Amino acid sequence: MNWQLLFNNYFHLVNKFLPQSQQKPVIGFDIGTSSVKAVEIRNTQEGSFEIQRWALEPIEGLDTKAALKRLFSRMNIKDQVPVTSVSGKGTLIRYIDMPRLTIEELRKSIVYEIDKYFPFDPQTIYTDCYIIDPKDKEKKMSVLVVATKKELVDERIKLFKEVGLELTCVTTNSIATANAFERLVKVQDPAGARAILDIGGSVSNLMILDKNHSPRFTRDIFIGSQDISNQISNILGVNLAKAEELKRSPGDKLNEIVQASEASVENLIGEIHLSFDYFITEKNLPVDDLFLVGGGALFKGIEKTFEKSLNMPVKIWNPLTDLRLAPEVASSDINSFSSQLGVAIGLALTKV
Ligand SMILES: Nc1ncnc2c1ncn2[C@@H]1O[C@H](COP(=O)(O)OP(=O)(O)OP(=O)(O)O)[C@@H](O)[C@H]1O
Ligand SMILES: [Mg+2]
Repeated sequence: MNWQLLFNNYFHLVNKFLPQSQQKPVIGFDIGTSSVKAVEIRNTQEGSFEIQRWALEPIEGLDTKAALKRLFSRMNIKDQVPVTSVSGKGTLIRYIDMPRLTIEELRKSIVYEIDKYFPFDPQTIYTDCYIIDPKDKEKKMSVLVVATKKELVDERIKLFKEVGLELTCVTTNSIATANAFERLVKVQDPAGARAILDIGGSVSNLMILDKNHSPRFTRDIFIGSQDISNQISNILGVNLAKAEELKRSPGDKLNEIVQASEASVENLIGEIHLSFDYFITEKNLPVDDLFLVGGGALFKGIEKTFEKSLNMPVKIWNPLTDLRLAPEVASSDINSFSSQLGVAIGLALTKV
């Protein structure tokens, strides 16, 4: 599937006012709630992708700008193309079936229907749409429509301006993850659908892709790895910093930590279950497997809990597996953050 159309046209209202550049390396900036991440990817002459630079900075005391400044000072940013994404409250993706139109016709017609699809005042959102099956001969087509609160995108543009960078493209986290998956994952396509769950600090983004890796369902679930830390802290009676440390390095306390975290992990799994049930009924398509990514996927053994409860194959997706590293990039450093870089990698793979 060609994501170029989507990314090129994404938030074209915003893009129109931003300078465009060609053939330059792209840097993806993932502004999370726990940390900010950046990855720069170069397309090598042999046609593979190579990480040139990367950085991750934790956000301390909710000060995203300070974390972004630290990140900038480590990244040597010159003329690369900066791309970022937004997620969570104020962003929504809908999938609708419509009579077949060209993308231009679709854009014009959807404006009049936007309030049918989103619970937002149309004046307050940026929207864009994408035809999922442009080559199908069917009379009907599947369309992805995305909306984000203007303030969310505008604030992001302002934040980057304040640290000295003009953004080129803004998309959503789930689209970025799906883009990374589509471009990197070569494992055999299942007969049914395949799900990816990005477990972040406070939000988890669920995407269900069809066998062509085209997105068919998206949902943001407001449960994340911080909830797991809170739960460990409550159950074991330790402070949050200690709970966080135990979650990251459980050592010989693994069983105790897994047990303590059970309720919050099961909460998240319950939401995934509901989404799968809805999807299977609505689309009449089974979900064959699930890939976990995001910092939350680094919690030891989490995929086993998912696998047992959902009764399906669950794997950790390491987006670095299919990428080369430039000689300056130490694999031992980047590998310990592998799962946290999925969104930034998807953004860095944007064709601008
Ligand atoms: N080695 C590890 N083991 C277990 N959990 C980890 C590990 N490393 C990071 N985490 C957890 O991952 C979470 C951060 O993940 P991530 O960087 O994907 O979140 P984010 O993108 O900042 O947040 P969000 O997507 O919710 O805005 C934190 O809650 C942290 O505790
Ligand atoms: Mg995230």
